[in-house]
Amino acid sequence: MNRKRTAVLISGRGSNLSALIAAASAPEFPAEIALVLSNREDAAGLAIAQKAGIATCAISHRNFDSREAFDRAIDAALREAKIDLVCEAGFMRIHSDWFPKAWEGKLLNIHPSLLPAFKGIHVQQQAIDAGVKISGCTVHFIVPELDSGPIIAQAAVPVLPNDTADTLAARILVEEHALYPAALRLVAEGKVRLEGGRAVFAAA
Ligand code: GRF
Repeated sequence: MNRKRTAVLISGRGSNLSALIAAASAPEFPAEIALVLSNREDAAGLAIAQKAGIATCAISHRNFDSREAFDRAIDAALREAKIDLVCEAGFMRIHSDWFPKAWEGKLLNIHPSLLPAFKGIHVQQQAIDAGVKISGCTVHFIVPELDSGPIIAQAAVPVLPNDTADTLAARILVEEHALYPAALRLVAEGKVRLEGGRAVFAAA
């Protein structure tokens, strides 16, 4: 099997990274985690990757004077590592338009709301403030417009009357850890692809 060489882009904790590493440790999983890249040298997720024997790379956005210059440095690291697919997991940088176009159809993100509801940050608080009874998480292809790409997979959780942003985030995170590997599997197997601005699913 030709496993897709996958990079995970992080900025922090790395719990989704852990879930992806665990899923990809199964030999039949169609993707391998070949590189973990962070914009922060102190991201806890880098240690998780190193412990798993995965190559890591830290590139600080502070060393670049434009979003595109930073994105081009990321792109160079990805190409050097012969990466096929990229999963963003808590990567807290907004890209230049150039980057998602350069990686169109190969760039995934996980977001802790049921998009298109609640884009941006503090989205669990946004959900509580809006009074919705269901929230969840979304894996989508990344396009230049923030949190707006074609949806690959979603999972829902209830929003409970006494939820805080933290309790809701914890409930959503459990679903994220199952959803992201499932979505990566679909893309790596070619069962969903980005075509004409939409996620197109292969017939079952
Ligand atoms: C997750 O909630 C993810 O959906 C969001 O940022 C958080 C990252 O958490 N984009 P972790 O670093 O994967 O633990």
